[in-house]
Amino acid sequence: MSEQDARQNAQHDAQHDALIAAARTAREHAHAPYSNFRVGAAVRAKSGRIFTGCNVENATFGLTLCAERVAIFKAISEGERGFDAVAVVADTDALTPPCGSCRQILWEFCGDAEVILANLNGKVERYRMSALLPKPFDQSFL
Ligand code: THU
Repeated sequence: MSEQDARQNAQHDAQHDALIAAARTAREHAHAPYSNFRVGAAVRAKSGRIFTGCNVENATFGLTLCAERVAIFKAISEGERGFDAVAVVADTDALTPPCGSCRQILWEFCGDAEVILANLNGKVERYRMSALLPKPFDQSFL
């Protein structure tokens, strides 16, 4: 590996670590009194800004919003467009992936971005959105 490649890899890893750390902190704000399942998410915009979200539950249950959608909607409402990566953190041994609704929303705004799953013990897995949501419905059909 060239020195330049090694430097880029180290930078990439540091960016991932920062995104995971942001998602982990956001998770602490989760409003999850019904499931007790706390999730944090963070999206990195192409501008470099990071937006975070946590799951926000509701007594009706059905109005619950996942951490991923909170993060992406915050970013969109702040005028951001275009995202490179999203991190999701939960306290599970089998890493928690985005639900189907979140995958559809992430595809809309992030396309084939990197999805980083992590837990509180430092376990990390990386996926592409196209692997999590094959054959997506999007604006190309409209
Ligand atoms: N949840 C998320 O926030 N993100 C996921 O990726 C999976 C599920 C939330 C929704 C609900 O508050 C709780 O986890 C249990 O489903």
